Amino acid sequence: MKIQINHYTTIDSTNSALKQRALEGCQSGLIISALNQTQGRGRLGRSFSSAPGGLYISFLLDLDQSFLLTAKAAVAVSLTLDSLGFSPSIKWLNDIKINNKKVCGILAEAVKNQVVLGIGLNVCKESFDESLKDIACSLYDKYDLSLIKKTETLLIENLFKVLTLDNNAVFDYYKAHLSTLNKEITVYQWPNSYPAFALDLTEDYHLVVKKDDQIIELSTGEVSIRDR
Ligand code: BTN
Repeated sequence: MKIQINHYTTIDSTNSALKQRALEGCQSGLIISALNQTQGRGRLGRSFSSAPGGLYISFLLDLDQSFLLTAKAAVAVSLTLDSLGFSPSIKWLNDIKINNKKVCGILAEAVKNQVVLGIGLNVCKESFDESLKDIACSLYDKYDLSLIKKTETLLIENLFKVLTLDNNAVFDYYKAHLSTLNKEITVYQWPNSYPAFALDLTEDYHLVVKKDDQIIELSTGEVSIRDR
């Protein structure tokens, strides 16, 4: 696969732009990266705060690389943060946290026989909106373009490395970094939510939870860890 990177200062959304390129017949291997997004998109139709100081990057990949792709992306981001000296944890399914605050979100979207994998990582944001300041964090707190570039290079290297790894190695790393296990959680299944206990992770990354006396396997959805 030939890797090519297009850099933007501002874009609406690197995922949207790459989806458009995919529809136009673009080959896998194209990467779009931006310093800020005007319409960054998150999971479940949410918006994703995308001010300067973040790394907003999307990868166009073959669909056959997408087996467990978001878990692989979470591992690639965690390896990158590990190598920079941070201690990341993964909140099921694919949020990356540092000190229990979200530093990175991942959104994978299929387009015909390809997949757009988008990663938004707060590298050096100096501030957050009021609604995010207690739940989000940044690696560094002073804007520095060279740190964004360095993080981008490491992340690209790690993603392509993780895509070649054996699935068991990815699973072991993911599970070892998963902060959700053995915790009291709230499961959100729109429009409902319920309290549960996170017991285990299956090999296909389903979260096994105990709700009252029932054991439930979650394949999608959202959980939060409950404070005691
Ligand atoms: C989430 O946490 O809900 C997922 C957020 C994914 C954000 C990234 S930033 C790069 C790419 N472009 C987008 O519009 N979204 C993804």
